[in-house]
Amino acid sequence: MRVAVIGSNGQLGTDLMKALQDGHDAIGFTHENLEVSDYNSCLKLKEHHPDVIINTAAFHKTDQCEDDLVKTFSVNAIGARNVAMISKEIGAITVLISTDYVFDGDKREPYTEDDATNPINSYGISKLAGELYTRQNPRHYIVRVASLFGKAGASGKGGNFVETMMTKAKNKETVNVINDMWMSPTYTKDAAFIIVQILELKLPFGTYHATNQGYCTWFQFAEEIFKMQGLTPDMRPIVTGQLVTKAKRPQFSALRSLKLPIHGIITREWKEALSAYLTERGAI
Ligand SMILES: NC(=O)c1ccc[n+]([C@@H]2O[C@H](COP(=O)([O-])OP(=O)(O)OC[C@H]3O[C@@H](n4cnc5c(N)ncnc54)[C@H](OP(=O)(O)O)[C@@H]3O)[C@@H](O)[C@H]2O)c1
Repeated sequence: MRVAVIGSNGQLGTDLMKALQDGHDAIGFTHENLEVSDYNSCLKLKEHHPDVIINTAAFHKTDQCEDDLVKTFSVNAIGARNVAMISKEIGAITVLISTDYVFDGDKREPYTEDDATNPINSYGISKLAGELYTRQNPRHYIVRVASLFGKAGASGKGGNFVETMMTKAKNKETVNVINDMWMSPTYTKDAAFIIVQILELKLPFGTYHATNQGYCTWFQFAEEIFKMQGLTPDMRPIVTGQLVTKAKRPQFSALRSLKLPIHGIITREWKEALSAYLTERGAI
């Protein structure tokens, strides 16, 4: 397959480019050479005649999204529209990377592909709008990921949670972490592998949840990060009420897939993925 990856030097984009190296022709687009919210800029995708266009680009600083709605919707919704329109025109498959934040968190157990969306912040609403635009190309995959950690670090967020925790421990800071918000930590290498599998196995078009298995609170995630490295920082569990944030966040946004196992795609547990990440980056 000839695959164009938008946001190719981002956290997930970097691992996608690696996962595609084996047997595919991957063409990477960084923010420097393609602005997803600008239709004319997206036209350069056509020059490469891709069979698939994967859009990882997003404005995803959740709190800042509340303050800059124009940027939020331009990148996350109009950007997705531009990519879907161009893919449809050239007969390519659109892959939109979406988020667990399209859900409200009230279900209190992992969300599947069949669950109704109901985002509670501007980031989530804009990503859901991106999903709706993506469906205008019938040949699409919407792949929802969550709480990513990867070697490249989220450029849009300035690192990732694992790295933030490690820095705090190194600096001997007290680590206050939310213990009443549940999610599915996911290694970008595993998410990238699932996305490539979906394409290679030509799974039915539609929406898929691509996370590591299981879920935990951010506090439990931090505990595991420290435990695996034998670190013992001063840790304090806090509750969401103690934090004032601009954006509301779903209290429970763990995801699980009903569809991938049917096609033989089974992901590993988040603890196993975390251990692989720490090993690969030389931390354990
Ligand atoms: N990170 C998470 O925990 C998380 C959780 C759920 C869902 N997701 C979704 O997963 C996807 C990938 O996340 P990630 O962690 O890999 O993010 P990331 O590291 O910030 O990567 C995003 C990439 O897109 C580029 N980009 C940003 N705005 C762009 C624009 N307007 N036009 C073109 N390129 C642009 C970025 O370049 P610059 O940095 O140079 O701008 C970067 O290369 C996103 O769609 C996000 O919504 C992420």
